[in-house]
Amino acid sequence: MRFLILGFIIGLSGKSLAEPIQLDNTNCTICELLVDAIGLSLDNNTVDGCVELVVLIVCEALKIEDERVCKGIVSEFGSEAIYILKALIKEDPRNLCGFLPIGCGYKFDPKGFRWPLVMPGLKPQHEDVPSPPKNQTLKVLHLSDLHIDNHYLPGSEANCSEPQCCRSNNTNVEKAGVQIPAAYWGTIGNCDLPYWTAEDMLQQITKTHTDIDYVVVSGDLESHAVWTYNTTDHAYMIQNVSGLLRKYFPNTKVYFALGNHEGVPIDNIAPHWVPQGNLSYQLYNVMANAWDDWVPDDQLAVVKYRGCYMVKLYPGLRLISFNTLYGDPEN
Ligand SMILES: *[C@@H]1O[C@H](CO)[C@@H](O)[C@H](O)[C@H]1NC(C)=O
Ligand SMILES: *[C@@H]1O[C@H](CO)[C@@H](O)[C@H](O)[C@H]1NC(C)=O
Ligand SMILES: *[C@@H]1O[C@H](CO)[C@@H](O)[C@H](O)[C@H]1NC(C)=O
Ligand SMILES: *[C@@H]1O[C@H](CO)[C@@H](O)[C@H](O)[C@H]1NC(C)=O
Ligand SMILES: *[C@@H]1O[C@H](CO)[C@@H](O)[C@H](O)[C@H]1NC(C)=O
Ligand SMILES: *[C@@H]1O[C@H](CO)[C@@H](O)[C@H](O)[C@H]1NC(C)=O
Ligand SMILES: *[C@@H]1O[C@H](CO)[C@@H](O)[C@H](O)[C@H]1NC(C)=O
Ligand SMILES: *[C@@H]1O[C@H](CO)[C@@H](O)[C@H](O)[C@H]1NC(C)=O
Ligand SMILES: *[C@@H]1O[C@H](CO)[C@@H](O)[C@H](O)[C@H]1NC(C)=O
Repeated sequence: MRFLILGFIIGLSGKSLAEPIQLDNTNCTICELLVDAIGLSLDNNTVDGCVELVVLIVCEALKIEDERVCKGIVSEFGSEAIYILKALIKEDPRNLCGFLPIGCGYKFDPKGFRWPLVMPGLKPQHEDVPSPPKNQTLKVLHLSDLHIDNHYLPGSEANCSEPQCCRSNNTNVEKAGVQIPAAYWGTIGNCDLPYWTAEDMLQQITKTHTDIDYVVVSGDLESHAVWTYNTTDHAYMIQNVSGLLRKYFPNTKVYFALGNHEGVPIDNIAPHWVPQGNLSYQLYNVMANAWDDWVPDDQLAVVKYRGCYMVKLYPGLRLISFNTLYGDPEN
């Protein structure tokens, strides 16, 4: 430990005296030395006890973005990030430096985090099947990325200083008062869709298209205010949008799929083999309940287990609703 701290100091001064400092490399070196100095590698119990502390120390030492990143990692990503960090650090303490956004040259590729997928054997031989009759046409309504913002407020700041605007609490830091007021039906810019615009759209669609065979909703119901995501809000949105579609399509089947914004936190759905608790994805049951008259009975258990399902729509045509987070590189 003492040797490492000494090495740390020598490393720092040696670096700054010898050659022109390349910030990126230096950040990473400092981080690695800190990790060594803190002694994370000593035993696993140290890791369990002080991950949050270490993240904050490293963040502060390197002055990463006014604590927002540190706070973001520790609060919004919460127990999920802590779980991942612990496992990363146990494998190699320096993984912590690859995890933090400080420009380390190497990309960490933790072996413990591979998501094993058992492939069901080789592709079957191709067989010619008779083509379906050519003149059968279906009319399908495809809705995607609704991104409804339940906090949309007409008259609020549309050119705000936050990532997501047109919301009750937005301000424009430069000037007092609202510079560009959010319009009633929606505003082009960093704003999402008001609920009433989505409802009005469905009203128009059902008036002008009375012969829709089925509806596909391919995910991303939520607003882009990703730092506020929580399971309660997401559950509300799943029930809310499902209810809205049921209201306008009482006799038409609606098939949902998950988008990356259905993750809590965004892009995150844990595989079902990780420890239970806060890491398990709690919204599959909500989805199964909200969609239960649209998803076949024998598929509801699949929805509850991994958020996907299959429906035989017509002879020769089946719909497969993927859990798209399985293919999300940010997951
Ligand atoms: C820490 O735990 C891992 C398994 O999680 C184990 O492989 C490793 O040997 C442990 N290290 C020490 C120092 O106990
Ligand atoms: C680590 O924790 C386990 C259980 O919490 C305990 O049995 C073990 O003695 C601890 N090891 C050290 C080195 O403190
Ligand atoms: C390295 O750290 C400095 C100061 O902490 C910071 O300004 C810079 O952006 C960091 N470099 C990278 C690539 O993140
Ligand atoms: C094509 O459509 C016509 C009119 O709807 C129908 O009478 C006919 O049976 C259809 N042909 C096939 C091959 O399905
Ligand atoms: C939006 O706000 C920024 C900063 O307050 C300002 O520089 C920019 O001109 C504004 N854009 C418009 C279209 O008013
Ligand atoms: C956001 O606005 C609401 C009322 O619209 C207010 O009660 C609340 O204090 C505001 N929050 C912040 C952080 O400004
Ligand atoms: C979820 O986030 C919303 C703001 O989007 C907040 O009002 C609510 O209290 C949060 N719920 C929980 C359980 O954290
Ligand atoms: C969806 O939520 C909005 C806003 O909270 C509410 O006004 C609306 O009645 C809800 N719709 C359904 C179908 O639950
Ligand atoms: C889940 O998180 C909450 C609050 O963040 C915490 O109180 C609770 O102990 C956690 N549960 C598990 C099983 O980790």
